[in-house]
Amino acid sequence: MSFGNVALNIVRNWRAAGKLPSLRSQVLIWFGASLIAAVGGVCMVLYFALIAQTNSIDDQLLEKKYETVRGLLPDEGEREFWIGHEVSEDMVGPRRFFVRVLGPGGAVLAETPGMAETAPAGLFRNRSPSTPRPIFATARTAQRGQFRTLVGSAVWADGARSIPATVQIATDTSLDDGVLAAYRWTLAFIAVGAVVLGLGAGWFWIARLLRPLEHVTDQIGALDLNQLGKPIETVGFSRELARLVHQHNAMMARLAQTYAGLQHYADNAAHELRTPLNKMLLELDIALRQSRSPEEYREALSNAAQAGRELKGLVERLLFLARVSTRQTALQAEPFAVGDILANIVGYFEGAAEEAGVALSLQMEQGIALSADRVLFQRAIVNLVSNALDHTAKGGSVVVSARMNHGDARIVVRDTGEGIASEDLGRVFDRFYRSDHVRGAIGGHVGLGLSLTKAIVELHDGRIAIESTLGCGTSVTIDLPGAAVAERLGVVA
Ligand SMILES: Nc1ncnc2c1ncn2[C@@H]1O[C@H](COP(=O)(O)OP(=O)(O)O)[C@@H](O)[C@H]1O
Ligand SMILES: [Mg+2]
Repeated sequence: MSFGNVALNIVRNWRAAGKLPSLRSQVLIWFGASLIAAVGGVCMVLYFALIAQTNSIDDQLLEKKYETVRGLLPDEGEREFWIGHEVSEDMVGPRRFFVRVLGPGGAVLAETPGMAETAPAGLFRNRSPSTPRPIFATARTAQRGQFRTLVGSAVWADGARSIPATVQIATDTSLDDGVLAAYRWTLAFIAVGAVVLGLGAGWFWIARLLRPLEHVTDQIGALDLNQLGKPIETVGFSRELARLVHQHNAMMARLAQTYAGLQHYADNAAHELRTPLNKMLLELDIALRQSRSPEEYREALSNAAQAGRELKGLVERLLFLARVSTRQTALQAEPFAVGDILANIVGYFEGAAEEAGVALSLQMEQGIALSADRVLFQRAIVNLVSNALDHTAKGGSVVVSARMNHGDARIVVRDTGEGIASEDLGRVFDRFYRSDHVRGAIGGHVGLGLSLTKAIVELHDGRIAIESTLGCGTSVTIDLPGAAVAERLGVVA
């Protein structure tokens, strides 16, 4: 199995296991591959540049020789001198030139002694160049090493005749080859060294970069439920990681707040449930302490039943809120005339308002119909009117009004009562929030009314808003979509 197959199998297994290599090895693999490509590329360029350079030097020398030979050939006297000279000088020294002159039929007119064995005519690729420029080539022989060759044309003087001739010149470049081989080794050594050093430095550098990430992971792992909001320090982190940690801190702060709210809610719920339960048990205990008349038993049982109903009401409201907040409640929407319901509610509270000396009135645009859950709608408005009456002293007024507002039914319950302090206004929709917490729950006033109303409005995709000025009064506005003029919804107003 080849290395490539092994690598491919490793990646496949990782994929199958749903895992990926660590960030460190991924970065290192890519970094290593790029480093190898870059160093390899540079070495290749350097190596081929050197080959081109040596060839160019060889070619210059060959051409110089060629020009000399070509200049000598037409003169018989000089030619003979040169041939003699060739034997004595050029054979010596590391760089040998071999020169051969061929006649028209390929007959050898002259050649450096020993050239037939060292550089036979077959070594030269082009026997008679058709171009005026000489042709250069590299020729490699199995036994005699490597040559750089030149083939060019010339004129051979034979008495009065001028014969067209071909000049073949070869120079032994085996020595260059040795230099190149040494250069190859040097380059390979430098390349391997650079890659190993680069990878090593990369390994440490990546480890350094990732250290804060591991630190953050540890800190998140060690987070305690009671310290959810404790932020993770970002000092000395890179910008990206600091951003991640900031987002994490912000999310944990929100979670901590929600968690604290839930704990508070659970505390409150337990506390509020205990009150009617205690009342019920107390009634029953007292009744059982000694034998009593049937009337006394009846009264005790009736009181216990009343406490039981309070308990049931509370549990039902809590269940309703829980279901609404997870949108598990099915809306039973039906069209109805808003006017009828509001008139009923105002009628229901009239007696109480009169007794409290508060003027309760209704102001309505005629003919508003709404497609909504009638029972829930009624419950929402009752909560608001009951709050308004509860918090308005003698001589004040409560006005319930309804009108169309951009396709929504807008219902406003406004009173001239005690108002709510601005610092409390943000919390009135919280479950169990009561401004007069110390007074204890009286008549089921446990601070769930406004949260229930808000839940009902939101279940209908509506909006609720409260405005209040301490000492001047409060106004709660509900906007419910799905409103229309009565006839269109088939409701007689
Ligand atoms: N119309 C109002 N005027 C003044 N305070 C109000 C009014 N409506 C609500 N509040 C304040 O908001 C708190 C929460 O109201 P609510 O959720 O209906 O609970 P509850 O009526 O059980 O106290 C009340 O305890 C009261 O302090
Ligand atoms: Mg209330």
